[in-house]
Amino acid sequence: MNFNFTPFPVLETERLTLRALNLDDAKAIFGLRTNKEVNEFIDRKRPNNLSEARAFIDRISQLTSNNEGIFWVIESKNNYQLVGTIGLRHFEDEEDYAEIGYELDPSYQQKGYMSEAFEAVLEFGFKEMELKTIEAFTHYNNEASIALLEKQKFILFPDRTDEGFVNNRSYRLEVSK
Ligand SMILES: CC(C)(COP(=O)(O)OP(=O)(O)OC[C@H]1O[C@@H](n2cnc3c(N)ncnc32)[C@H](O)[C@@H]1OP(=O)(O)O)[C@@H](O)C(=O)NCCC(=O)NCCS
Repeated sequence: MNFNFTPFPVLETERLTLRALNLDDAKAIFGLRTNKEVNEFIDRKRPNNLSEARAFIDRISQLTSNNEGIFWVIESKNNYQLVGTIGLRHFEDEEDYAEIGYELDPSYQQKGYMSEAFEAVLEFGFKEMELKTIEAFTHYNNEASIALLEKQKFILFPDRTDEGFVNNRSYRLEVSK
């Protein structure tokens, strides 16, 4: 799988623009990654300050320029605010595989925004990147995430484990090979 994310593939949906992350997003990224509600079921290191948020943005930008992952900012077309993020990473050649990750600001949740973003990213993953499998690891109590995945026809794979995250369950969407 040889991907090339330059120029960056901006995706458009009815209400959203999915665009590249940049250093001007540091404050919004800090807000998302420190928000208690957003992080309730996500086991990850939180930035302590804006400079750690900027370091995160640098790492993500590097990943994308090395074609090792792709991370979109979800921006509202209404007000140009960063309302969430969505990305694909952990590519595996043999399986044409990627893992998906996603988060949305609480004030934008339960309005169909992530479904809209998800559909655009799934289409990009399966059609443009020619992936065959997209997997999401999600905490077994994360009802919102599970509802979103099931709506997108992801299927629970109870025997798969997420190394280091015992509470996570695997949901996969596979297209026929
Ligand atoms: C998971 C998350 C991205 C869902 O985003 P969202 O924009 O609210 O989802 P949508 O509005 O597109 O809803 C998708 C489906 O999930 C359902 N859903 C959403 N939130 C729900 C909740 N809290 N409880 C139960 N169902 C929920 C919706 O009803 C919808 O199904 P429907 O169309 O059949 O009614 C959002 O809750 C979030 O960012 N959570 C915090 C971060 C996180 O946990 N990320 C996942 C890490 S693995």
